[in-house]
Amino acid sequence: MGKTIAIVNQKGGVGKTTTAVNLAASLAAMEKRVLLIDCDPQANATSGLNIVPDDAHNIYRALYAAETAAQMIYPSLNSYLLVLPSVPDLAAADLELVEKMAREFFLQEVVRKVCSDFEFILLDCPPSLGLLTINALCAADKLLIPLQCEYYALEGITHLMHSFELVRKRLNPNLELLGVVLTMFDKRNKLAHQVENEVRNFFGEKVFNTIIPRNVRLSEAPSHGLPVISYDYKSKGSQAYLQLGQEFVHWIGQ
Ligand SMILES: Nc1ncnc2c1ncn2[C@@H]1O[C@H](COP(=O)(O)OP(=O)(O)OP(=O)(O)O)[C@@H](O)[C@H]1O
Ligand SMILES: [Mg+2]
Repeated sequence: MGKTIAIVNQKGGVGKTTTAVNLAASLAAMEKRVLLIDCDPQANATSGLNIVPDDAHNIYRALYAAETAAQMIYPSLNSYLLVLPSVPDLAAADLELVEKMAREFFLQEVVRKVCSDFEFILLDCPPSLGLLTINALCAADKLLIPLQCEYYALEGITHLMHSFELVRKRLNPNLELLGVVLTMFDKRNKLAHQVENEVRNFFGEKVFNTIIPRNVRLSEAPSHGLPVISYDYKSKGSQAYLQLGQEFVHWIGQ
């Protein structure tokens, strides 16, 4: 049975999607069978892998008909990497679910239906702690937090850790913090080093050794519909996500 990892930070633009897409691609390059579920109505992971879902086959539809989830999965360029894509309609789910019974567990049902086919299921979450993100935390075994190396990096982390603890206590006792990955690191910037120290003091052993540098190739790759390793294998961004993939597998023990 696959391990499910929710990639969460309610702050916008910290590298969640870049990490979801490129970690997924790195794991697929290691011949691990990976399913990337795009849980964000912005659908950046979907378009970043050049997937154009139709109205009937996407995560929004799957949420309300978990038994059909396997039919909502699309192939990518790498046969080890499959995608359950998002559409802007998914934004409605955050409100619609409020009225439903067991509203926190719709995504868990979807994951349960498909997890036996994969080693890893990565959940790319929207920049909020709304019901979609709570659904991801309830569906996941592990939480992965990308943190951007800038002044406000730790702002909001208390709130995120509070939600994590609440979910653990009340909804999903299996959930564990896998780790924190530092993103968009600029080694020439003194502040970035200070932020790294601060984050390592706060999270201790839970911070990945691999640090993702700021790298223009990482920001260009999605406009070509490619993960960075397919766009420019030799780039610093590619090499960092390949290394993160290795460390991730080691940490998760698989
Ligand atoms: N290491 C990096 N180097 C350079 N650019 C990056 C890097 N990581 C992410 N970016 C760029 O920064 C922007 C935000 O990244 P990304 O979309 O991954 O963040 P996000 O947390 O998913 O955002 P949102 O909260 O809106 O979903 C994107 O334009 C992306 O291409
Ligand atoms: Mg995103």
